Amino acid sequence: MNQSNKKNLEFIINSGVNYFLQDSPRNWFVNEKKLEQPSFDKDTGDKKSKIDSVIEDLKNHKSPLQKTAKNLVVYDGNLNAKVMLIGEAPGRDEDEQGIPFVGRAGQLLNKMLLAINLQREDVYITNVVNWRPTENRTPNDNEILEFLPFLQRQIDIIKPRFIFLLGGVAAKAILSTPLALGKLRGKWHEYKSLNLEEGIPTIASYHPAFLLRSPQYKKHSWEDLQMLQEKLKNES
Ligand code: URA
Repeated sequence: MNQSNKKNLEFIINSGVNYFLQDSPRNWFVNEKKLEQPSFDKDTGDKKSKIDSVIEDLKNHKSPLQKTAKNLVVYDGNLNAKVMLIGEAPGRDEDEQGIPFVGRAGQLLNKMLLAINLQREDVYITNVVNWRPTENRTPNDNEILEFLPFLQRQIDIIKPRFIFLLGGVAAKAILSTPLALGKLRGKWHEYKSLNLEEGIPTIASYHPAFLLRSPQYKKHSWEDLQMLQEKLKNES
């Protein structure tokens, strides 16, 4: 290589040759780091519009439960939450307000969260079924299956690091098992979605409404919450 070719080559390398290998011209005045990392707000905005479209589809979905319910109940909390809590179906208070877990069970849930240093605003809260079944009856298998695709879409959008299932209906829907909570609780399971690369570590535990009726199970619930807290500690 003659001296002038070598100098040219050096000049090109020193000027950052890899920057020429781009699909579009480089704007040297923009901070590249900012471009690479989608901002928190942008991500939230994106999730918000996707969740809004799930809500829109739920509104357009004709469910027999809608005939007797007052308000559609979808979610409360944080779209960027690491933890997603899934309950059963709205009760009377939730049906009145259109927000999940605002009645007595919801108040206990808030306390359970506080016990592991989580505010309600830190988590994403939803239910398997989005309209109140009459007389607060347990949703049947057809109703669980009717609403499951909407729940699965929410999980795919929120991409929580952990799922905490509240009660047997949520456990049946998400873990596809008829096993009782006594057998499922106290260990980690994995929820797998076709649309997510990684499985989501999942705990199935007692529903707060059940704990209000049977407080002797609170110690088990506390153990399950501590398992979640332990994982969250290792996260940050
Ligand atoms: N029970 C549930 O499962 N969900 C609610 O939103 C309220 C009570």
